[in-house]
Amino acid sequence: MASVPSLASTVQQRLADALSAALPEAGSTDPLLRRSDRADFQANGILALAKKLKGNPRELATKVTDALDAGDVLKDVEVSGPGFLNITLTDRAITRTLAARAADDRLGVPLKENPGVTVVDYAQPNVAKEMHVGHLRSAVIGDALRGMLDFTGEQTIGRHHIGDWGTQFGMLIQYLIENPGELAPADEVDGEQAMSNLNRVYKASRAVFDSDEEFKERARKRVVALQSGDKETLELWQQFVDESKVYFYSVFEKLDMEVRDEEIVGESAYNDLMPETARLLEESGVAVRSEGALVVFFDEIRGKDDQPVPLIVQKADGGFGYAASDLSAIRNRVGDLHATSLIYVVDVRQSLHFKMVFETARRAGWLSDEVTAHNMGYGTVLGADGKPFKTREGETVKLEDLLDEAVERATAVVREKAEKVGLTEEEIVENGRYVGIGAVKYADLSTSANRDYKFDLDQMVSLNGDTSVYLQYAYARIKSILRKAGEARPTAHPELALAPAERALGLHLDAFGELVYEASAEYAPHKLAAYLYQLASLYTTFYDQCPVLKAEAAEQVENRLFLCDLTARTLHQGMALLGIRTPERL
Ligand code: ARG
Repeated sequence: MASVPSLASTVQQRLADALSAALPEAGSTDPLLRRSDRADFQANGILALAKKLKGNPRELATKVTDALDAGDVLKDVEVSGPGFLNITLTDRAITRTLAARAADDRLGVPLKENPGVTVVDYAQPNVAKEMHVGHLRSAVIGDALRGMLDFTGEQTIGRHHIGDWGTQFGMLIQYLIENPGELAPADEVDGEQAMSNLNRVYKASRAVFDSDEEFKERARKRVVALQSGDKETLELWQQFVDESKVYFYSVFEKLDMEVRDEEIVGESAYNDLMPETARLLEESGVAVRSEGALVVFFDEIRGKDDQPVPLIVQKADGGFGYAASDLSAIRNRVGDLHATSLIYVVDVRQSLHFKMVFETARRAGWLSDEVTAHNMGYGTVLGADGKPFKTREGETVKLEDLLDEAVERATAVVREKAEKVGLTEEEIVENGRYVGIGAVKYADLSTSANRDYKFDLDQMVSLNGDTSVYLQYAYARIKSILRKAGEARPTAHPELALAPAERALGLHLDAFGELVYEASAEYAPHKLAAYLYQLASLYTTFYDQCPVLKAEAAEQVENRLFLCDLTARTLHQGMALLGIRTPERL
């Protein structure tokens, strides 16, 4: 593994050195380097510096230019405008740097020197309930965040905080006691059967609960038995959990996403901690009793009539709820798992809950300044009509139906070209799945998470525009060129001059690592998606303007194949971080 400094960082370093050589009195100054259309890079930092030193910016810029160590990296540095520097690199430096990337498994991207531990709370459906499109977003975004963070060397731990506790279990368990055999053993059903059994039991028990006062009373008593750890009750509760997991796993598998059993740690896992959490909060005065309940107040959080809205840690009847489990989870994640960052990929409508939970944990000292906590609140999934996603009958859409439809449409798209590419039926089916699921993931990840997004299958599987299919085809096209190359191997030739489209592609390839670092620090998978889309577009331009296999000289062919190969590897790596497959033939 060899980390390769990017060209941008090399130029940045040389500029910084020149600045301090030319102007020792200036102290350290950021040259403010960015990519530019006029040259390869533009540095704007001298303007601010000149202002600070009350000097003439153009004169300063010239001084800095004279002090620059150009070596064989900088081809041309030109002072322009009021005092910008336009910087052009040598072709040799570009190809040489890319060759160093190509020689490394990680494309020359360094690992963090001091990685932290990030606990990612994502993909948290509820027991005995169908997963909906919101749970889809949480799963897709959380998985991509983990992919990016892991790649930088950060240690991530997943937590699927599933809803597996609460008063509704009294009703469900009581019903099962009175109607034994309604839930088949979890190891005898597939995901679909599990969910349909759970649905049936849920509806039936609800109906009795709403119509039969005596059943309602028995269900209430059952909640108490569950909370006090009665053995038979717990066993039946476990059956609901196990049956639901069969269903969850089937959906995650459909989503082509790995979920580990030891990371499914639901609300109930914190039961034993909750009384202590409440006691500590009360003793420290962070929480107070109010009408029998234990609550935390916040000056700035107010509801109707300007009344303060409290966070309820313990209800007046002694029961613990959602907030108590989240507070206890923070103690566990920071205290036992040694998390340095906590991320919650949860619907933006829960942002107030998390604001109050984080603030309470800070007051209690469970979150210190060294630990960051962030609710990555995502927006609503809308239908193609721009309204929240519903079936024509007004029901919420089943996640599985959506995924199945995406795969169906994608398979049709794949099939159209299959004959030309020579795909077997098996490959068509497999690719259809990768393209369909990739389309759903990419559409979600390419919009910034806090925005609502339209679930529009027609647009998602379109071959043109900012879609995963477009990226997957770009990848497969490159692979096909590499297969057709015969004897010619991808080989870098730093001595060759580069065409403008080759330079643009090369500079973008070189920026991959820095982009991944930026996107993961900002928890912004959409930035990685945008980078990959631009990479595919730059490749398309390169391919239009620079013949690869028909290039004139043999070295030219090899060097272009080398660019093709590095583009493919970068696309593949980037897509993999987002959880999207790149089939070799499409
Ligand atoms: N199960 C919850 C829901 O479906 C989401 C849980 C989010 N995570 C958490 N730590 N509260 O809305």
